[in-house]
Amino acid sequence: MRGLLITGGAGFIGSNFVRYILQKYPDYRVVVYDKLTYAGNLENLKDVARDFAGRYAFVRGDIVEAEKVRAVIREHQVNAIVNFAAATHVDRSLMEPDEFIRTDVYGTYVLLEATRELGLERMHQVSTDEVYGQVLEGRAGEDAPLHTRSPYAASKAGGDLLCLSYFASFGVPVTITRGANNIGPYQYPEKVVPLFITNAIDQQPLPLYGDGMQMRDYQYVLDHCEGVDLVLQRGEPGQVYNIGTGVETHNIVMARAILDLLGKPYSLIRSVPDRPGHDRRYALEVSKIRALGRQSSHSFAQALEETVHWYVKNEWWWRPIKNGEHYRAYYQQQYDQRLARGQAVAE
Ligand code: NAD
Ligand code: DAU
Repeated sequence: MRGLLITGGAGFIGSNFVRYILQKYPDYRVVVYDKLTYAGNLENLKDVARDFAGRYAFVRGDIVEAEKVRAVIREHQVNAIVNFAAATHVDRSLMEPDEFIRTDVYGTYVLLEATRELGLERMHQVSTDEVYGQVLEGRAGEDAPLHTRSPYAASKAGGDLLCLSYFASFGVPVTITRGANNIGPYQYPEKVVPLFITNAIDQQPLPLYGDGMQMRDYQYVLDHCEGVDLVLQRGEPGQVYNIGTGVETHNIVMARAILDLLGKPYSLIRSVPDRPGHDRRYALEVSKIRALGRQSSHSFAQALEETVHWYVKNEWWWRPIKNGEHYRAYYQQQYDQRLARGQAVAE
């Protein structure tokens, strides 16, 4: 699998994965295929284009365009696809679900068909712990039922089920990973951790949904990339692998930890009206990926510290995004009324 097509490779996790793969495997070639939606950004790959010019190519395109996908696979002699392309933000899926269904379900189908027709060695689907729905007790293993509660989660579950059906029906060599919340460099500041860090730097309120007692397994993005690579190398076709640390943190604790790292007051936290259908807790059983050989992972404290440090040092990356028209319109729609109705959180 030396020629990889990395769809969605200009986004947050995809760009970290591209860099990780090119650094680790001197004989690999990578083609990034990305539509460059609001979340795709060639600035994320600027250093990659410079440092790996001979082994890296970028093609702008949509994964639902079947002919274009096939042409790129042929032209670049691709052996395997790693699919990061998706509409990814839960709050946006509540505003405009159609893009989620189009890319996350239909787009996945297009990649599966291309894998089948062109006889590729692997189609790896990067999926999410959100497909299990909220896990109020215990942990979700890979065979847990899918109880999705947002259009985003339901669309990702649709993509996963198509992958498994292509393995069962046509023998297409698919693998799936379901990752917990990633944090780290180049995450678009709509997601809670970069949103809170950059708001805190600017002395702006941190809009904490509801009581802030929801739990997420915040993992460092490169640990997730390592897990995806491990499954690409050693995973068994037709199998699903969870990737996370197995440790969950309350959102209020995460918010306070960010403020501590930045030396800012807790009074910046505002409790705002909750996300509809907000999943209370995600918790993954991660023994299967550990059995495959996964060892290293940052603790929550280490991952958060590295992330905060990166955003402090890289204003050149996030400030133009936050000042841009698209972001400001989204922020206004999502937060203006919420913040007006928000309340201080007792310290
Ligand atoms: P992101 O929103 O930062 O990036 C998504 C990328 O996909 C962007 O570059 C965008 O331009 C591209 N894209 C979107 N629609 C496309 C289309 N139709 N055709 C081609 N490219 C398209 O997302 P991310 O946070 O990096 O997530 C990447 C993948 O990992 C997604 O599949 C997501 O479901 C999954 N995932 C994310 C997390 C997380 O915490 N962020 C956790 C687990 C799994
Ligand atoms: O779990 C993996 C998933 O993690 C990925 O599949 C998704 O693509 C990714 O967006 C992320 O989904 P979440 O909904 O968990 O992430 P988000 O950053 O939107 O929110 C994390 C938690 O913080 C969640 O409990 C909601 C809360 N939150 C979020 C925002 C944006 C707030 O309290 N305030 C906010 O403003």
